[in-house]
Amino acid sequence: MPEAPAFEGVRSRSELRDFSVSDSERFWAAVGNQRLSWISPFHTVQDCDLTQGRIKWFEGGKLNVSVNCLDRHVHTSPDRVALIWERDEQGSEVKYTYRELLEMTCRLGNVLRRRGVKRGDCVTIYMPTCPLAVAAMLACARIGAAHNVVFAGFSADALAERIRDAESNTVITVNQGVRGGKFTELKKTVDEAVQSCPSVQQVLVAMRTDTPVVMTARDVAMEEVSEIIEVNKGLIKGLPEMLKEDVVCEPAVMNSEDVLFLLYTSGSTGKPKGIVHTQAGYLLYAALTHRYVFSYHDGDVFGCVADIGWITGHSYTVYGPLANGGTTVLFESTPIYPDPGRYWNTVERLKINQFYGAPTAIRLLLKYGDHWVTKYDRSTLKTLGSVGEPINTEAWEWYHRVVGDGRCPVVDTWWQTETGGICIAPRPSEPDAEIVPGMAMRPFFGIKPVLMDTEGKVLTSNNTSGALCMAQPWPGMARTIRNNHQRFIETYYQPYPGYFFTGDGAYRSAQGYYQITGRLDDVINVSGHRIGTAEIEDVVNQCSAVAESAVIGFSHDIKGEGVYAFVVLKKNIDIKEDDLSRQLNKMVSKKIAKYACPDVIQLANRLPKTRSGKIMRRVLRKVVERDLDGLGDLSTLDDPTAVQEIVEGHNCLYWGYLHSDLN
Ligand code: WTA
Repeated sequence: MPEAPAFEGVRSRSELRDFSVSDSERFWAAVGNQRLSWISPFHTVQDCDLTQGRIKWFEGGKLNVSVNCLDRHVHTSPDRVALIWERDEQGSEVKYTYRELLEMTCRLGNVLRRRGVKRGDCVTIYMPTCPLAVAAMLACARIGAAHNVVFAGFSADALAERIRDAESNTVITVNQGVRGGKFTELKKTVDEAVQSCPSVQQVLVAMRTDTPVVMTARDVAMEEVSEIIEVNKGLIKGLPEMLKEDVVCEPAVMNSEDVLFLLYTSGSTGKPKGIVHTQAGYLLYAALTHRYVFSYHDGDVFGCVADIGWITGHSYTVYGPLANGGTTVLFESTPIYPDPGRYWNTVERLKINQFYGAPTAIRLLLKYGDHWVTKYDRSTLKTLGSVGEPINTEAWEWYHRVVGDGRCPVVDTWWQTETGGICIAPRPSEPDAEIVPGMAMRPFFGIKPVLMDTEGKVLTSNNTSGALCMAQPWPGMARTIRNNHQRFIETYYQPYPGYFFTGDGAYRSAQGYYQITGRLDDVINVSGHRIGTAEIEDVVNQCSAVAESAVIGFSHDIKGEGVYAFVVLKKNIDIKEDDLSRQLNKMVSKKIAKYACPDVIQLANRLPKTRSGKIMRRVLRKVVERDLDGLGDLSTLDDPTAVQEIVEGHNCLYWGYLHSDLN
């Protein structure tokens, strides 16, 4: 690290790590000065107080994030490839140089400005992973507006809720999305959503396919906006010829702590939280982790296959790689389209050097067999990354042995929407330091994890488990929850005063390595997507046949966790189980998204409750884990026989399942 020689006493990686924690101000000051382009420099490295949930970095500093991601690279290497759009149609990738991406961003920035989007406004982006979506994010950053990217798999209701909470006046979308050969009606979904969003004044619509969509007075057809011609390199139909002249869009001068984006994520209550990230600290942290966790070097092709609708897409498809002047892949497809060789076909064709994906996809692919991998040349691969959920040993080993031919380090990276970037990962470390399968292992520079016992005391020994907290602030951490700073404090800073609480549990091994054991709250992780069980319950309880419900996660061999719903029907309701299941699936897809639909529905006469009426989820979890010995103390239950009924009902379902598997 070029900054290291200035740090006294630092001669090795581990000394550098220690310095980054013990003298974190000097570490971050040096890195912040060195790696970001400032319009004016910061005067205060940090002003943080975790007991208050106050986090501020690099105050006094002024900069523009899009300039950091684009202009400065255009000055040195305008023709370097910034984006490779791996379109859903295999073999039809399109490359965009830094100059082209800057032009596209400026055109879009000018359009937004001309159409009244101001500094401090929030623009909702409901688009698939594509260059125009990246340009939209950067165009917001350019003019000082915040963006709110909503995963294009979310339903109209979920989108509307996020638009309303963000108070967006502008939405950007495409006519249709294309994924796995299937079309999704994104513009129609936006139409439905904005009906309940009075703040929305305009919807910008780009064309991903040829299929025309109905336009309303609120809609702006992007291909008719002269500033945006060229955006899709002729992939948008009916565009005039490419404009050759330079395009200028004056970058807004932003303070370090102005909002860069909101990203909604699930918590343990029914309402998603709009996590707020700001400019300098977020960008610096994304860039530094991208550079060192993956050992990204100039000229490498970085392949993060996450959708831009999630934090991984923000930090490691867009901001980290672009801040580093890298070449980043925008993956629009699925792991199995047109066949289970898609990832490795892409690796061979695009010569990907770092591949970053989710355990759920790895588990799925390993079932299809090695030949889908080995038929492609993967010799360009140098590092393999995993994110979003625990990676089980079998998947880790397969990823390492088959995909990486046993030669590439596998980095299991632990982090969250709230942390902005990777906090625990096997690298950076000494080049040949051991990597333990299925463990995130080592805290990143400036990160100081601690484990807490149930009384809120710090556990100091090794070979122990506890609640994972962070004892020290870092630049990438979330600043607040949109419209709800109180909830921010209650969720992250009150459980362990003076510490940031992650919501996860972790084990620290005898060697001091960290392994994440899973959520401690009522949030489950379905195929790497976070969803609060309360959000699903809210929807299930709206079904007219349902009296009450309890949703929990259960171990699922591909998704990691599946959704298991216990449902109590209203008295005298006569409904076939198939019909109920269809109804609930329809409702959950409509209100949230398909991935949140229950995998298993168990009808029950009543749920196990405490005398004060609280559902005992711990008991339900143990039943579903088939760990009856672990049921623990049932004496606080209102009616212990309820458990017996639940166990019997579960056994019937379970044997039914096994039976259907045998058939
Ligand atoms: C889980 C995704 C185990 C964890 C970047 C966390 C992981 C939540 C890992 C955040 C990992 C993420 N091992 N669990 N390597 N990475 N998680 O906000 O429970 O979508 O709290 O961010 O995913 O999910 P989010």
